[in-house]
Amino acid sequence: MSDKKASNQMWGGRFASGPAAIMEAINASISFDRKLYAQDIRGSIAHSEMLAETGIISAADQEKIAHGLNTILTEIEAGTFEFSTRLEDIHMNVEARLAELIGPAAGRLHTARSRNDQVAVDLRLWVKDECLRVAEALKGLIAAFLERAEEHAATVMPGFTHMQAAQPVTFGHHCMAYVEMFSRDLSRVRDAIERMDESPLGAAALAGTSFPIDRHKTAKDLGFREPMRNSLDSVSDRDFALEFLGVAAICATHLSRLAEEIIIWSTPQFGFVRLSDSFSTGSSIMPQKKNPDAAELVRGKTGRVTGHLVGLLTVMKGMPLTYGKDMQEDKESVFDAAETLDLMLAAMTGMVRDMTVNAAAMKKAAGAGYSTATDLADWLVRALGLPFREAHHVTGRAVALAEEKKVGLDRLSLQDLQSVHPDITADIFSVLAVQNSVKSRVSFGGTAPSEVRKQIRYWKKRLAKA
Ligand code: ARG
Repeated sequence: MSDKKASNQMWGGRFASGPAAIMEAINASISFDRKLYAQDIRGSIAHSEMLAETGIISAADQEKIAHGLNTILTEIEAGTFEFSTRLEDIHMNVEARLAELIGPAAGRLHTARSRNDQVAVDLRLWVKDECLRVAEALKGLIAAFLERAEEHAATVMPGFTHMQAAQPVTFGHHCMAYVEMFSRDLSRVRDAIERMDESPLGAAALAGTSFPIDRHKTAKDLGFREPMRNSLDSVSDRDFALEFLGVAAICATHLSRLAEEIIIWSTPQFGFVRLSDSFSTGSSIMPQKKNPDAAELVRGKTGRVTGHLVGLLTVMKGMPLTYGKDMQEDKESVFDAAETLDLMLAAMTGMVRDMTVNAAAMKKAAGAGYSTATDLADWLVRALGLPFREAHHVTGRAVALAEEKKVGLDRLSLQDLQSVHPDITADIFSVLAVQNSVKSRVSFGGTAPSEVRKQIRYWKKRLAKA
């Protein structure tokens, strides 16, 4: 047994053919970065056009290059392109095929360029497109919530703190809270686009190039606002990917909170909503069950998205300037987070649109748990001039009395109420019913149907402009 063979048995594992195979397996990214083929070809065509325009390569060579690249695009899209792990990544796979197709002119494409700026521009283009997709999906989800909010601007439900019924609110108001949250996500994703809208192409390996390239031209041709100003930063920056993951993780967290609420609301114990059959499944053993699987999966997948953010932050924290192969690890995080978030957004939008709202169950629950106790206290302050702290104590006694009699606050008699404070009049009943409680909360941003309708009008106008 040779030494080489012995050592392979020690650490070679399934890589029976030795270190070369292990190196190839750890080094290659083609299995995942092939996703960047369209951006890679687009970037290369723009680069070649600039090289021809600045006289760095001939127009004839540029034509051959562009023609070859377009052929490769067609081959990849038709599924006839043969990707090779030996050629490591998408950049080398495309370039090798270009050489096969057009011969020596292919070798001129990489003038004044490196895979370092090439991969940076490819991934930026991809992430920018994904951000635009997320923005569109968010708009769809917000529109779904606006519709439900309009329908239910006056539908009362319990508002919760500590998961305990706190004060009555309207379902429309609750929907509008999500409009606020997802609109912030929309604004965050647009901010991220704004910052990533600079092209790293032309930074070459890290230091720029001695060729008379025109980075402004390639930036513009690729749809970027301008080129990045520092070549070192151009090849080493992955903030755009981190920002996307950050936006995605926050958005996923919002979706997960919503999923959690839908899961709770759709239990028989709550019965606030019924999910449509398309977003739930039955149990193979318990015929009565309808499970909110899609919502549960949204809640579960949030872990993946957040994990990808933490993963890439951890990759980047150890990176000295500029490029290091560690950064090849950026792609799977970004791709999986994107695919996951797209699916989560689509599923939640469908669920929100399709779910049936049980207004009667919401109203019944809104009255439970002495939810109008704050209204009673406020009435004592307003009508009797009591200091709020004293009103709080008096209300506490009223709640205790209601508890003792096993009735709601609005079912206590006037005598009962006068036993906790002699000056109480029948006028108090006007605030003890949940509908009245809700109607009275007209402060800016409050839950009164009139206020909720104002919020809906505000967002409709603002989103129409966006
Ligand atoms: N596949 C590489 C990546 O994704 C491309 C850049 C390689 N650059 C290099 N100097 N080896 O990061």
